[in-house]
Amino acid sequence: MHLNIVVLPGDGIGPEVMAAALPVLETALRRGGHTLAYTEHPVGGAGIDATGKALPDATLAACKCADAILFGSVGGPRWEHLPPAEQPERASLLPLRKTFDLFANIRPGFLPAALAEASPLRPDLVAGGIDMVCVRELTSGIYFGQHRRITPPDGKDTQAEDVMAYRKSEIERVTDAAVAVARSRKQRIVSVDKANVLACSVLWRETVSARIAATAPEIVLSHMYVDNAAMQLVRAPAFFDVLLTENMFGDILSDEMAAVCGSLGMLASASVGGTKNRHGYPFGLYEPAGGSAPDIAGKNIANPCAQILSAALMLRHSFGAHREAESIETAVRDAVASSAARTADIAFGHPAVGTCEAGNAVLEQLEKQ
Ligand code: IPM
Ligand code: MG
Repeated sequence: MHLNIVVLPGDGIGPEVMAAALPVLETALRRGGHTLAYTEHPVGGAGIDATGKALPDATLAACKCADAILFGSVGGPRWEHLPPAEQPERASLLPLRKTFDLFANIRPGFLPAALAEASPLRPDLVAGGIDMVCVRELTSGIYFGQHRRITPPDGKDTQAEDVMAYRKSEIERVTDAAVAVARSRKQRIVSVDKANVLACSVLWRETVSARIAATAPEIVLSHMYVDNAAMQLVRAPAFFDVLLTENMFGDILSDEMAAVCGSLGMLASASVGGTKNRHGYPFGLYEPAGGSAPDIAGKNIANPCAQILSAALMLRHSFGAHREAESIETAVRDAVASSAARTADIAFGHPAVGTCEAGNAVLEQLEKQ
């Protein structure tokens, strides 16, 4: 297979974790007999610096011609003086998600039993490891409703509002995505909402229930309020298999899930939607969920695993290259377990290695397979 992708390293730690991930991706593909062509383009703050736009026209045009996007991260203090709507996150990542209708965000949280010490939770809570997937709605809800500030004529008591809205069809399609994930796992979904307060959540709960009853009655569905879900994630993380939720709750809970599983530096994500690429698989954007971490950028200390694992998700979802995806995931696990890929965030008494060294350790494991 010939893979044609766009690489958008972005800002902060993006370029360095991307540099560690690309050789791993290339090696896995070469070993599987595939070829890779990619072009790199500026996005986010790098896009603003290069062209004045966070999502430069040429970057967007290149994405439209590709089979998938491998994304780094965007944002940082350098662009925080800009009006919110022009900042890298809101002006590049969100429009990319929306333009390509990438409504289903799949974030796997995994903590092998052998790495239980990496979790900040009490050992008995994670002794058996954690293996769950957060499916987050990504192109609607409060992120995409109207955001505005209203300053009264006397200028005294400024107000701001953000509109949260959901359509039934938007809830149905992300439910279908969660069902597809659950079918490849334990057939269990916990849907998270705030139906005791929000109208959107009442619709969410009704729609998820009806959709699963009609299309996937074999799935065991339960509902949880978001505050309770936040608590259960630290009380009994092993209870979760597939967690399905709306945009903002998913943003928050997936960070919590990542921390419980050891580090945000390990959290990969796939954002897919209805469009297919030329291979007949979903077009998607693949990115670490942890952000640009400007405080540690350029120091060769960031964990490259989330970026590497995002490349593996890309192989699986956008190219159906399951074997190659697994080879990368196994290499990451082995490298972390042997402590050769333990950057500072997951070192726990082992000597911390740098970003490049961690990437090389993964590469070495891959070559050993
Ligand atoms: C994420 C990030 C983004 C989000 C930011 C960078 C806009 O936190 O992917 O989780 O909130 O979706
Ligand atoms: Mg987030």
